[in-house]
Amino acid sequence: MTPLKADAPNLKPAQGLEKNPRLRTLIYVYALALVTAVLSLHAIAQQAAPIKHASNAQLADPGTEARVESLLKRMTLEEKLGQLVQYNDTGDDPDAQAGNQKPTDNGGVIVAINPVTANHLDAKQLAATGRMGSMLNTIGAARTDMYQHLAVDKSRLHIPLLFGADVIHGYRTIYPIPLGLASSWDPQLVTALCRMSAEEASTAGVRWFYSPMVDISRDARWGRTAEGAGEDAYLGATMARAYIRGYQGDDLSQPGHVAASVKHFAAYGAAQAGREYYTTDMSEITLRQDYLPPYKAAVEEGAATMMSAFNALNGVPSTANPFILGKILRGEWGFNGFVVSDYTAVMELLNHGIALDPATAARKALTAGVDVDMMSHFYDSQLPALVHSGQVPMSVVDEAVRRVLRVKIALGLFEHPYAQGKEVTAAVPEHRPLVRKAAEESIVLLKNDKIAGAPLLPLSAGPKKIALIGPLGDDAAEMVGAWGGAGRDPDIITIRQALEERAQKAGGALVYAKGTGIDDASQAGFAEAVNAAQDSDIAVLALGESNAMSGEAGSRAYLDLPGNQEQLLEAVAATGKPVVLLVFSGRPLVLDWAAQHVPAIFEVWFPGTEAGNAIANLLYGDVSPSGKLPMSFPRAVGQEPLYYNQFPTGRPATGIDLSKPPNGDTRFFSRYIDVPNSALFPFGFGLSYSNFGYQDVKVSKATIPLAQALANRGTPLLEATATVTNTGNRTATEVVQCYVRNLGASVEQPVRSLEGFERVTLAPGESKQVTFPLRFNELSFYNVDHVATMEATDYTVWIGGSSLADQEANFKVVAETQRAAEGRH
Ligand code: BGC
Repeated sequence: MTPLKADAPNLKPAQGLEKNPRLRTLIYVYALALVTAVLSLHAIAQQAAPIKHASNAQLADPGTEARVESLLKRMTLEEKLGQLVQYNDTGDDPDAQAGNQKPTDNGGVIVAINPVTANHLDAKQLAATGRMGSMLNTIGAARTDMYQHLAVDKSRLHIPLLFGADVIHGYRTIYPIPLGLASSWDPQLVTALCRMSAEEASTAGVRWFYSPMVDISRDARWGRTAEGAGEDAYLGATMARAYIRGYQGDDLSQPGHVAASVKHFAAYGAAQAGREYYTTDMSEITLRQDYLPPYKAAVEEGAATMMSAFNALNGVPSTANPFILGKILRGEWGFNGFVVSDYTAVMELLNHGIALDPATAARKALTAGVDVDMMSHFYDSQLPALVHSGQVPMSVVDEAVRRVLRVKIALGLFEHPYAQGKEVTAAVPEHRPLVRKAAEESIVLLKNDKIAGAPLLPLSAGPKKIALIGPLGDDAAEMVGAWGGAGRDPDIITIRQALEERAQKAGGALVYAKGTGIDDASQAGFAEAVNAAQDSDIAVLALGESNAMSGEAGSRAYLDLPGNQEQLLEAVAATGKPVVLLVFSGRPLVLDWAAQHVPAIFEVWFPGTEAGNAIANLLYGDVSPSGKLPMSFPRAVGQEPLYYNQFPTGRPATGIDLSKPPNGDTRFFSRYIDVPNSALFPFGFGLSYSNFGYQDVKVSKATIPLAQALANRGTPLLEATATVTNTGNRTATEVVQCYVRNLGASVEQPVRSLEGFERVTLAPGESKQVTFPLRFNELSFYNVDHVATMEATDYTVWIGGSSLADQEANFKVVAETQRAAEGRH
């Protein structure tokens, strides 16, 4: 594989017009003033779109409003703008202040993985003078309290700071990366984990999480697939709600509750070619049908804040986009929290080329609806002049300040500004069972072939000599994934630790050989690994990506096992010993060789603090695997973007053997000539140590009158049911999935879409009838006017254990005239 190379980020603001002749300057100033006035009015009009209802009732509380107004009246412009800016903790370390912080520093601070860490501003002075409203990357109760005392004790109006952090999959006790959590298809579990991390982090004064990332990602090349729930809008929306419930609960002011920041608004996950920070361009139908539902679900669940994305959407950068921030977010969805920009995203409007100077960037972002400027240093430096000259009305500033103050009041920060409870400084022993369960539920069994007549897994309990091989077999730091919070390496259980203990208990033994590094070319360690396998009964290979190969700025053009890990796998497999492959990754990888030659494969993502124990429990069968893929695994990179809910096209390749190159009869279809269209491991797929059978897939009605469908937005229009039976010989959990196809609509619809799922645990021989209510929400689509609707169309429903479910039932939505013609009343 080509080694990853980091391109030098081009984050220098574009030069201003200082060298231009005077005339050009004058023309520019007049033109700017005119354009500004028009644009401001336009943007304000967009923002002022009537709000139907407030998305978060707590933020709309009249008592809160009175407090906000009383404060606002007393604030100077400088103090108002202070609430709208956010800075890093630049620390006391001169190196850090110079912007040279390392990506992670478990010694006390989490630092951003961004290239710009400091603005050479004295954060302490800003806090003490009311010129900063929130901070990021301030970790540890001592530091948050130190800054908070400056704000509360010294600043004129004593407005507390809000401390935010990227607590994405755990604070000190780390659970699987979000893509792994999505593989659990267990929203209750996600809620419990989020509550746990909120409780941990708030003991250090952090009351605001930059999570959940709800960007739909259909392209595995994009590294941030690791941080989201994968490719599907329904699963993504369900997970989005689960995160918000866990972080915020019913009442933001409760100790241990935090405000969520839903990110990155909008459609950041559709970066073209999977390249980080790159542009997204899509129809409004696709935007509304496939990308917006998780953000909308989070807003409906009461998310207190939203983060604007780095990307341009259909040509307009999301951080200055009145259409998505004003019309959709505030106007249609009634969002009444605040919007924070992504890191230096206001400044990046210069690089996008839609602003020629910082003043324009600040004006465009604020008037479009970005309330808080994260790290650009543009709102505090540019807005005073813009407000004084009338280019930005004070009312726009006031409204942004109100939104920030409402959240601070709702969080109870004025009453309890400081870190609460005993500070959590290490993984919490009582939290280990929950994060272990999460890791167990997140891991997906992709393959489990029979060896000598029986499936290779689970391993029998008897004595065995196990060879553990691979760079991820004994590396604590690499178990946590892209956003390891403030997790500490010594708290992490590696696979080697856990398997050694298990093997010894069973009277067996474990030998470990690293074999190679994650991204190495040298084969010096291969012989030791091959010998270890030869001397053992079974080889367990822990291979895959490093934490840093996914997550932000982790786009890859090759999706194979990095370095020479595949050669190591081939060398070990050549010994003829049974091989179990554990794949660590923040995205779907191309596992075509392994799928053909390795009998058992687990996708383990990055499991977190309890990685080793969870993997051991699955290998030994204490727990039966139940994870299901939230993203399609491709056969070749060239299939990307690959997703199950594709369109049929005019030349569907159904019924053709796509594993063979085309001949005259099979060529002119929507297909590749060199690879099948299908995923190697499809969305929703995952094996168990038991088996499940499906019967009696039915719908409760054969027809639904269209008028009734259009009039009943919230109540079920019909129910789809199936009976699922555990046909194996052990208790196990299945994720029952319901897919729907809508045929005959005025807009082409996908071949199927997920519209319901349920985790079901069954004893051997036990059956359960599972019911999926289908409402307007599940059955509607967006028409050419971008309106969600239903038409008189035909529907097929499938219920089963993956997106390949093949047992179906059918119903129709019928118009009155059609009903009459068919003689039904
Ligand atoms: C990322 C965000 C993150 C922010 C703060 C940005 O670079 O895109 O997801 O929350 O930094 O660290």
